[in-house]
Amino acid sequence: MKEKLKEIKEQAEKEIKSLEDSEKLKEIQVKYLGKKGEITGVLRSMGKLSPEERPVIGKLANQVKEEISQLIEERKAFLKEREREGELNRERIDVTLPGTRPPVSRAHPLTLVMEEIEEIFLGMGFTIADGPEIETDYYNFEALNIPREHPARDMQDSFYITEEILLRTHTSPVQIRTMEKVAPEVPLRIIAPGKVFRRDDDATHSPMFHQVEGFAVDQDISMGDLKGTLLLFARQIFGESLEIRLRPSFFPFTEPSAEVDISCVICGGGGCRVCGQSGWLEVLGAGMIHPRVLEVSGYDPNKVTGYAFGMGVERIAMLKYNIDDLRLFFTNDLRMLKQF
Ligand code: PHE
Repeated sequence: MKEKLKEIKEQAEKEIKSLEDSEKLKEIQVKYLGKKGEITGVLRSMGKLSPEERPVIGKLANQVKEEISQLIEERKAFLKEREREGELNRERIDVTLPGTRPPVSRAHPLTLVMEEIEEIFLGMGFTIADGPEIETDYYNFEALNIPREHPARDMQDSFYITEEILLRTHTSPVQIRTMEKVAPEVPLRIIAPGKVFRRDDDATHSPMFHQVEGFAVDQDISMGDLKGTLLLFARQIFGESLEIRLRPSFFPFTEPSAEVDISCVICGGGGCRVCGQSGWLEVLGAGMIHPRVLEVSGYDPNKVTGYAFGMGVERIAMLKYNIDDLRLFFTNDLRMLKQF
């Protein structure tokens, strides 16, 4: 029986020491010390022993019982301490750590450029107007002297909603909407920034992009006013050393029409890869508002004249920040956006 008790003790010791879960300690307690436990089992079978042996074994059994319950208590305390330590580690607060800053939002590069363009023109006495992004065929094309079947419509592949309604392909309809409201009052100096939509999608075209339209109507407005205004604008946004040039072009709603180039912002005009060795970069379309456009808007083209221009904001932003893929503006990559 001595052997048996020794065995029980060793077995219990092994089990207790390897125990990781304090809940299981209760099971062990029952298993060894409970009413139907191992030690009780030994005590029950003591009847078989001789009277001399009985007290010896009885004493030993109680001793083992004592030892086991001590081991259990120790293990319990150990596991509890360990749990607490884990808790403390998990919940440790280092009050000297700098706080976690909430990420601060910032303006998108296109917003920045748009605002800069607005500032420049506001400084020259322009005011801001806008119009709907969902436009009628009349304002987007017809009133701008682009009748149905006119080949100029091919330049602006459109998203149609119905035959009569489409996503505006340029900001020029704002010219008509604004003039209609105030004609025949002059003077009028307006810029109209906003989103426009075309069925284009590659490294330099996006189906949605931004334009800033500008126009002025007054007595005796000339192409010289247009050129002077654009030169002032170009120098403010790209730098004082900049030059511009006007090349003859065609838009149905301006006559004469021009493409406006700026001297290359990368090479300064000497010729490089960006400007295709020409020294010039095309940045906007412009011209004198066509007499028919003035007329449909309520002006007398014999009394007033006007100029208009339209520029792509993405194009300006790409040149200003040296960005070579227009799609970067719309993929929301923080590595790119955080640089502004
Ligand atoms: N609306 C023209 C375009 O999107 C640009 C333009 C505006 C040209 C005003 C002349 C005058 O291509």
